[in-house]
Amino acid sequence: MFTRSVVQTLRTAVPRRALSSTRATAPLVSAPAKTPLARRNVSSSPAVLEGQEPIVAVKEDIKIPYPDEAEFPPGDLGHSMEGPDVDVGRHTRRTLASFSMTDKVCVVTGAARGLGNLIARTFAESGSNAIAILDLDKEMAEQAAVDLVSWFEEHGEAKKGEIKAIGLGCDVASEDSVKECFKTVIDKFGRVDTLVTAAGIVENYAAVDYPADRFRKLMAINVEGSFFCAREAAKDMMKRDAKGSIVLIGSMSGAAVTPYNASKAAVRHLCSSLAVEWATKNIRVNCISPGYMATALTRVILDREPELREAWTSLTPQGRIGEPEDLKGAVIYLASDASAFTTGADLRVDGGYTLT
Ligand SMILES: NC(=O)c1ccc[n+]([C@@H]2O[C@H](COP(=O)([O-])OP(=O)(O)OC[C@H]3O[C@@H](n4cnc5c(N)ncnc54)[C@H](O)[C@@H]3O)[C@@H](O)[C@H]2O)c1
Repeated sequence: MFTRSVVQTLRTAVPRRALSSTRATAPLVSAPAKTPLARRNVSSSPAVLEGQEPIVAVKEDIKIPYPDEAEFPPGDLGHSMEGPDVDVGRHTRRTLASFSMTDKVCVVTGAARGLGNLIARTFAESGSNAIAILDLDKEMAEQAAVDLVSWFEEHGEAKKGEIKAIGLGCDVASEDSVKECFKTVIDKFGRVDTLVTAAGIVENYAAVDYPADRFRKLMAINVEGSFFCAREAAKDMMKRDAKGSIVLIGSMSGAAVTPYNASKAAVRHLCSSLAVEWATKNIRVNCISPGYMATALTRVILDREPELREAWTSLTPQGRIGEPEDLKGAVIYLASDASAFTTGADLRVDGGYTLT
């Protein structure tokens, strides 16, 4: 169920020094304000994965075990599914209306699991009753849509039939597939008000060894996929002369180096370009660059290699790894009218990692 993407995202951003010698040379920080952070070498290459194919080897002693698919608990979407007493629910007190997603049609790519799934659920939590879940695997996307609706109905957050969610198989790297899916969404819901592009993969090859087909695939999904989806959403918004919000999911790795990170830097720059080009049409385009997020995949890794947690947290000023839920506020801010005068922004949700 889980690809290598998360661990490779993390590994890409983890500096060699942090993984190999943090404990030996720099004190680990439990209270970041009191302890100086290790300086990072952002040009560091990824580490060696045991039992994996072409991965950049920079230090033989660095091993990050990659869990087998079977090690993941079945049905673990990568974020909390407990309820209703988790951080989910409608706010009944006075609250800023501009943050509401009520009456907005929301499309989220890569939403069958992981951060995209959390984002789709956050839209339901914030009032949206029309949500499209796009993902490569049609069955997973359909199931995710069913699960989303039943969770909110079951926990009393929505009446039966109140929330409509559809799951669609979509390869974001294929222009035709993207066009077809957006057509289906518009046929079903009438329009697209908000798009979040969370579909993405990670690969780590040394640049000199990067097979051309793999590199093209990386760029096709992360960069072209973001562009195709943003363009289809924008076309619908322009056709209706309506405002809209597009949020591209980048990565804090976009501020570092390696070919994967170049794809995320491209996403960030794509955001700037589209934001300017579409600004007068009232279509806002912003980017979220998450840092280390404790998804299902990273939890399995960290349970097995607790010292990695120390290395990662020691390099994060807030002294912890992010929870997927830490993205909720950022995504709703940028997707909703609350950010009406914000476009072209890159909102880093990384606990301050990229500042040091
Ligand atoms: N998890 C992290 O710590 C982290 C940190 C920074 C950035 N990110 C970025 O956030 C995004 C989501 O990451 P995640 O951790 O949820 O990863 P994930 O692998 O759990 O989820 C990605 C989803 O995208 C889908 N997908 C892959 N290729 C696709 C394609 N061609 N068309 C449609 N869907 C496709 C997958 O099926 C999967 O459901 C990615 O872009 C990733 O680079 C994640």
